[in-house]
Amino acid sequence: MNQYVIAIDQGTTSSRAIVFDHSGNIVSTGQMEHEQIFPQAGWVEHNPAEIWNNTREVIASALSKANLTRHDIAAVGITNQRETAVVWDKNTGEAVYNAIVWQDTRTQPIVDQLAQDGGLERFKQKVGLPLATYFSGTKIKWILDNVDGAREKAEAGDLLFGNTDAWVLWNLTGGVDGGVHVTDVTNASRTLFMDLETLQWDQEILDVFGVPASMMPAIKSSSEVYGQVHTSQLLRETPVAGILGDQQAATFGQAAFQPGEAKNTYGTGCFLIFNTGEEIVHSKNGLLTTLGYKLGDAKPHYALEGSIAVTGSLIQWLRDNLGMISSAPEVEELAAGVKDNGGVYIVPAFSGLFAPYWRADARGAIVGLTRFANKGHIARAALEATAFQTREVLDAVNADSGVPLTELKVDGGMVANEALMQFQADILGVPVVRPKVVETTALGAAYAAGLAVGFWKDLGELSANWNEDKRWEPQLPAEEQERQLRLWKKAVTKSMDWVD
Ligand code: G3P
Repeated sequence: MNQYVIAIDQGTTSSRAIVFDHSGNIVSTGQMEHEQIFPQAGWVEHNPAEIWNNTREVIASALSKANLTRHDIAAVGITNQRETAVVWDKNTGEAVYNAIVWQDTRTQPIVDQLAQDGGLERFKQKVGLPLATYFSGTKIKWILDNVDGAREKAEAGDLLFGNTDAWVLWNLTGGVDGGVHVTDVTNASRTLFMDLETLQWDQEILDVFGVPASMMPAIKSSSEVYGQVHTSQLLRETPVAGILGDQQAATFGQAAFQPGEAKNTYGTGCFLIFNTGEEIVHSKNGLLTTLGYKLGDAKPHYALEGSIAVTGSLIQWLRDNLGMISSAPEVEELAAGVKDNGGVYIVPAFSGLFAPYWRADARGAIVGLTRFANKGHIARAALEATAFQTREVLDAVNADSGVPLTELKVDGGMVANEALMQFQADILGVPVVRPKVVETTALGAAYAAGLAVGFWKDLGELSANWNEDKRWEPQLPAEEQERQLRLWKKAVTKSMDWVD
């Protein structure tokens, strides 16, 4: 009875459900990819109905693989791709437009227009974020401005907004039949609308964007019972008790609870989160100030974040757009076939450059090509781009905190790539540490839900579940590390100022 917690991880490329036991071990997993819709250059969409259907399927598959029923599950946690905006009609349950994904850059004209009064940092002191296409706010405005009838319906109180956590929660708890419209502080902190101090929507900013407050979900902590799964669903009557944006969930799953602890997650993009405890720290080096977590009534924990838009998705691009490899792991084999990058550097600025540059005018660049360069060098440069981008973000964290990190905890799909992890340690100059359970995103959401229902009693119990799997020590001589970093930074300058 109630021996497990299930986490739903609604990510950028797939939705997963993972069942965890009390020791934080994976019992079973269900996973389904969803379509990536690219209607034009710079636009990225998902179909919200497909996401919700897949969510139901993966829950069913995770339960059935381990022969479990709802009676075995103590609580449900939700984690999600952050910023991706869904706007739906609360009377029909249908989205009025596809979800606009965090990588989508169509709202640059909105950003430019809003920045005319006060610049890109206009709201940064209050919300921790610069104006950028990345965050939900401009995406909601785009939908209201561009979808027929949307603004009228929103003003009449008929439309709801959510990141995919809120979309999944609303549907899971009944949808048009009493669905709960709630998000947590971590997701709310990615919209551009939440005041970091009060943890409430800021009416003035909502007004500037022309977004009615009635569309916005109630902001709750990351760990409390939000509602029960609706009776029409497989997990009926199970409490939904945890929500964390995926990067914050990974930090929580890594048990990085103390100020000064950090993790880097290698997924579609790469996101380094540095826990600053109860203190709101404003970055001078291109990092975001964001919520780390809030457990029930306890004080919130804040964090600094270095967001990198493209890492794993560069490997997918080699596979899907160039046909250079047929599966993502092949990139490692190709890269292993050459002794170095042959002087080739790839700057994957597909959505402009995020941290620490925040340059919307940047576009992808491959530089250093000679007649000597081959597929192996390109593969290697693609992997190395991930490590170089992480180094630049780590430098920003060290500059902001004043206390250099002595090691980096890592997780996410790409940490299975041993060569990349060694190169990462070489380029950072500090050890890189991988835990035994690398599914820290789902684990963090499970922890948040389990804590709320007493399945786990406190953070100490969670820390005790964390075990080291492998550690990579830096081996590259300092001069070589500096030389490569210098070339990388030169390559970055070539990617900038590209948009007409
Ligand atoms: O900010 C975007 C991030 O939350 C997406 O993460 O792992 O779905 O690529 P992921």
